[in-house]
Amino acid sequence: MRDQTPAESQKFSVSGMLLLLLVLLAVLFPGGDNLEASQSSTSFHVMQISSFVNSTWTQNRGSGWLDDMQIHGWDSDTGTAIFLKPWAKGNFSSETILMLEEIFRVYFFVFTSEVQDHVNEFELEYPFEIQGLAGCELYAGGAIMSFLRGSLEGLDFLSLKTGWPSPEGELRAQKFCTVITKYKGICETVEKLLLETCPQYLLSLLEAGKADLQKQVKPEAWLSSGPSPGPGRLLLVCHVSGFYPKPVWVLWMRGEQEQEDTQQGDILPNADGTWYLRATLDVATGEAAGLACRVKHSSLGGQDLILYWGEKG
Ligand SMILES: *[C@@H]1O[C@H](CO)[C@@H](O)[C@H](O)[C@H]1NC(C)=O
Ligand SMILES: *[C@@H]1O[C@H](CO)[C@@H](O)[C@H](O)[C@H]1NC(C)=O
Repeated sequence: MRDQTPAESQKFSVSGMLLLLLVLLAVLFPGGDNLEASQSSTSFHVMQISSFVNSTWTQNRGSGWLDDMQIHGWDSDTGTAIFLKPWAKGNFSSETILMLEEIFRVYFFVFTSEVQDHVNEFELEYPFEIQGLAGCELYAGGAIMSFLRGSLEGLDFLSLKTGWPSPEGELRAQKFCTVITKYKGICETVEKLLLETCPQYLLSLLEAGKADLQKQVKPEAWLSSGPSPGPGRLLLVCHVSGFYPKPVWVLWMRGEQEQEDTQQGDILPNADGTWYLRATLDVATGEAAGLACRVKHSSLGGQDLILYWGEKG
């Protein structure tokens, strides 16, 4: 990097610093993205969706998520967090919460105005959307990884993951902050939020929300027929709804024989925080009798739900 005169440094805007910071992070944490998300991990992340409509109009949306459960909203008029669960503050004090809200408030303001000021420089054209994701993930063995991701119009321009606490992660973080000593303040804030605040918060969240998060809610299931796939054919639909947690097993069966052609939809959220899934099977009309939909779920204690096609209830 070439040296800058003080005047040049001053002109170097916050967005420039942020961009530099992101690029450096990507360089200093190479290949950190190969750690696949495993089923036995839990993550907390904050998400930013900034829609730049035109030169004067931007909408910022912020939210906080524990895995796929939204626990925070963001009121962009007042610049305050909305806590959607009674345990969503974890063990953080009101002072800490106020401080974090202030950081996000400033971040949204600075980010918006700096992007608007550099639209031409970055060769951006209105309207465009920038999404940001930052958080940390706890693995079954107790390891915690932090991550930061940015995308423009759905394309990732940044994606990185780093370990904490690991000597290697610490070393890299130190090296990184040495490299950008000019912007030490920003570096240290981002680093502290990702590597210290987030893991502490995530752990305290899991403790505070224990009763809610470890609850078991039994699914209800019912059958219906879908739009006919063709002459002489039936679409059998098995609806499974109201279960928690999310992992579920649903298959059409003939006796003990699994029907491999079963098509599963996406697992969709119900308004009350439970889940819904439908599984369909396309069969010849004459072959529907004797088929059953079988549901396995942790809340059922091994007592699978079995619903036979053509039977009432
Ligand atoms: C920007 O978009 C807003 C909302 O669509 C509109 O009201 C406003 O007039 C636009 N401003 C400019 C400068 O185009
Ligand atoms: C909050 O919980 C985290 C994780 O369990 C812990 O490390 C931290 O010390 C706690 N903070 C307070 C103020 O109790």
